[in-house]
Amino acid sequence: MRIQIINGPNLNLLGKREPGIYGSSSFDDYLHRLQAQYPGVQIDYYQSNVEGLLIDKMQEVGFGECDGIVLNAGAYTHTSIALQDCIRSLKAPVIEVHISNVHKREEFRHHSYLSSACLGVICGFGLDSYRLAVEALTSAP
Ligand code: DQA
Repeated sequence: MRIQIINGPNLNLLGKREPGIYGSSSFDDYLHRLQAQYPGVQIDYYQSNVEGLLIDKMQEVGFGECDGIVLNAGAYTHTSIALQDCIRSLKAPVIEVHISNVHKREEFRHHSYLSSACLGVICGFGLDSYRLAVEALTSAP
């Protein structure tokens, strides 16, 4: 099984960015721990700050190259119809994740353009949100 994790804008700054909200671990450190927990699953990682590059990556892997995508689109979650259209086009299921509980935060974070196109949404569990999404994809019937 192959799972693609995709992180959007500013998530390259995890560990440095607002640690009170997003924690103090870099994503690379977290990713190594996650990969060790799922030795039977190939977990690949891609990050970009550019909306179109996120779409290019999803189109590249979403038609057979991977069995599921774990997507944290960052702020594009709240703005991007183009990402929603992309998710709707893919064969691979997409799980939307957020590190923070966006519903406890500013109102502009309460709406997601992506959720309606995704298999499910996980938010508010810190970096463990990604593991919960991997768990959901690997345990799906
Ligand atoms: C985020 C929440 C978004 O509102 C924010 O713009 C991010 C990170 C999260 O993981 O909690 O960049 O997606």
